[in-house]
Parts: sequence; structure tokens; C-alpha cells
Amino acid sequence: MRILLLGSGGRENALAWKLSQSPRCESLFIAPGNAGTSQFGTNLNFSVTDFESIKKACIDNKIDMVVVGPEEPLVKGVTDFLISSSSLKNLDVIGPGKAGAQLEGSKAFAKAFMMRHNIPTAAYREFTLDNYTAGIEYLKNHSLPIVLKADGLAAGKGVVICENHLEAIAEFELMIQRAKFGEAGKKVVVEQFLKGIEISVFVLTDGKNYVLLPEAKDYKRAGQGDTGPNTGGMGAVSPVPFVDEVLMKKIEDKVIRPTVEGLKKEGLEYRGFIFFGFMIVDDEPYMIEYNCRMGDPETEVVIPRLKNDLVELLDAVSNQELDKVKIETDPRTVCTVVAVSGGYPGDYTKGLEINGLGDINPEDSMLFHMGTTIKDGKVVTNGGRVFCITSYGRSIFDAVEISKEEMQKVTFKGMAYRNDIGYEFE
Ligand code: AMP
Ligand code: GLY
Repeated sequence: MRILLLGSGGRENALAWKLSQSPRCESLFIAPGNAGTSQFGTNLNFSVTDFESIKKACIDNKIDMVVVGPEEPLVKGVTDFLISSSSLKNLDVIGPGKAGAQLEGSKAFAKAFMMRHNIPTAAYREFTLDNYTAGIEYLKNHSLPIVLKADGLAAGKGVVICENHLEAIAEFELMIQRAKFGEAGKKVVVEQFLKGIEISVFVLTDGKNYVLLPEAKDYKRAGQGDTGPNTGGMGAVSPVPFVDEVLMKKIEDKVIRPTVEGLKKEGLEYRGFIFFGFMIVDDEPYMIEYNCRMGDPETEVVIPRLKNDLVELLDAVSNQELDKVKIETDPRTVCTVVAVSGGYPGDYTKGLEINGLGDINPEDSMLFHMGTTIKDGKVVTNGGRVFCITSYGRSIFDAVEISKEEMQKVTFKGMAYRNDIGYEFE
């Protein structure tokens, strides 16, 4: 099979690593990819939202399957665009169409979907300029803290948790009146704050059936002990120690099955990954968010635990034969630690030379590139999150220690990482 993978992060490096291991992967192309993905296939230099270039690359390279990594092209309709193209007759696309991708593309859509299918989630209301005054009144009487969410995609920055009413009203005004998040924030979801433990569960669905992939927990805050600003994720662990069969059964019965069945009932064609973000409150799962893709850095711990052939698995998705598949999981614990550029998630420098990338001991660890590129034959930084080191271990502590040890071998100017990933499980 000839495969085109869209994206350029650590998620895509992990997917490229896994896809290329399959005997069924004849050729792998990654667009635009990073310095790491080029070890496993051919990088193509165009953006994930350049639909015409994607289509041309599919024709020129006789692509059989497109795997879409990030949310932006999905929400913009890349799947519908490719599937409906008369020059791409037998192409399979892993990733939902525009309608299904609304699960991530619109928080208001996702909340209404959860309501329609009785999926447990935080209480909420939605507001726009039309009911702005009612929104202010609603905020004044809301319990604290208050969660405000820009409806649309806001590069992971659209959720603001406000500790007092004045702050919430100011933020609400910024979003609706002053377009703080552009179009994405002109509709705002105001949500009850849930206090609990967050976990992420990943599902692959063919629209009829689904399989569960290993669960994970990511570490979003920039600083040690979960302090400081939110980031895309500074590390991840899988499995998550407190997730037992009883909790997993609740998650499947109350959320996952109703979601897959809900999509089917509503005629929302969905072949791809669904990322379920949960808050576990008193052993009960509440849905925080859907993503229409895998997580990053969660993929860098989930995929290394997956023993199945990924090409076969994705082919079963395209053929709606996931009911014939059994997921095989590596029982070992896997953790990843992310190295970021100084200043991230604020301003940071790009183009810094990275040394020691080839020195990782391959026995228990691997290095996935995140924001890197090749310049004048050298690997340089090209993003805030630069690479991550994933390790297998007997425990979370063990795996994190191995990653941290390997981390010493790689250097670039201003490199930083959290050394406490998985701290609450020690
Ligand atoms: P999201 O962009 O939807 O992933 O939200 C970002 C983060 O905000 C989540 O990972 C949670 O930590 C937090 N969050 C979102 N919604 C809630 C909520 N209702 N209660 C508490 N925390 C929340
Ligand atoms: N790590 C969180 C995400 O991928 O959205």
C-alpha cells in the first residue's frame, strides 16, 4: 500500500515509525513531515491545508491511503475534498469528513451532541453577540471557577479557566466583542468547572465498529508539579495506573458506545481516530472534549504500546471490518518526556542546531522529532516542542528515569524539559 501521512509533529513521527514497520507499507510519504519522519519515508514540502497539493501528490505518487494527523485539515474538510475528487477513485482517507470533525471543530456542536446522546459532561450554555447580555447575567450568577471555551479551533488556547466573576466577564467580552480568538471565539461555551483527574482514551472507528487503543495521561502545564501556562503537552504516560476494568467499562458504556452510535444515527460518516478527553470525578467519567485525531504527545506513548500492524488496522477501518480485529497491547509501561525550546509556550527561537540525536540507546528508548527540520544538512529546531524521548519500563518511574537519562545526550541552546512526568504515580 502507498500511504501519504499529513502532519509535521511528534504524532506524525510516531505514526510514520509504526506505518513503515508494516510489510504492507510499500511506500510512505509525509507532508510536510519533519527531520524525524524523513527517516521513514519521503517528506513532501507543502502544508496540510493545501488541498490542491495534497490531491496532486496523491495522483503523482499513486497513493492508496491518506492518514490525516492534525485537526485543521479535517475540520476544513480535507476528507470530503479528496473522497469526492473524480481523479482519486479508490483512495481511502483515515480521518472524518467535515461534519464528523465538528466534534472537535465546534465545542457547541460537541456539547449539543453529548446532550442528544445522554453522554455525561459538565453543564453548559452557549452565547454569541445575540444573547451577550444574557451571557453576562449568566456569568454573574455562575459558581466559581468558570470555564470559558471559544467555540472553534484556537490552536489549543481557546479554553480559559476564570477564578472570579470579573475575570470571566472580561474574558467573555474579549472573546465575543473583541474577537480575541478571531471567528473561533465569536461563540462561547460557558461551562461548569469539574474537579478531578484527567485521562485520554483513544478509539479507532470505521463508522460501525470501534476498537479501544491504550489510554494515556498527558502533562499540559509547562512547569514542574503542573504549574505555569498550558502547552500542547510536555509528556505522557500509558497505561494510567488508576484506570481499571470497572472505570473502562463505564467509559465504554456511558461515552464511547453512545458516541459511535450517535455518529451513525446522525449520518455522520466517521472513519478515523476519536480522542476522548475525560475528567474522572469520584470514579465517574465526564467528557471534557472530543478531538477528531490522535493526541500529541499521547500518540508517542500509545503507538509504541500497540502490537498490531498499523497498516492492517487502518485498512480494516477503510473496509469497515474493525469487528474482525483484536487489539494487542504491550504490557510494559511507556512514558515520553518532551524537550522544548526556551521561552515555549511563549516566544522562542527557531533554527537552533540540535546535537546528539543519534546517540539514544535503542534498547528501551526512541526519540521522536516534533518541531525539527533539516537546514544546510543539519537538524535544527523548527517549533516550540522540539522532540520527545519515549521509553519502555517496568513502572512509570522506571520509564521516565530512562527517558531523562537519554535526554542528557541531546542538546540545543535553551533546551528545557519537565523532569517530573508521572510524578503523582510514584
Ligand atoms: P480543551 O482545550 O478542551 O482540552 O481544554 C483544555 C483544558 O482545560 C483541559 O485539558 C482541562 O484541563 C481544562 N478543562 C476544560 N474543560 C474543563 C472543565 N469543564 N472543568 C475543568 N477543567 C476543564
Ligand atoms: N496533547 C493534547 C492534544 O493533542 O490535544
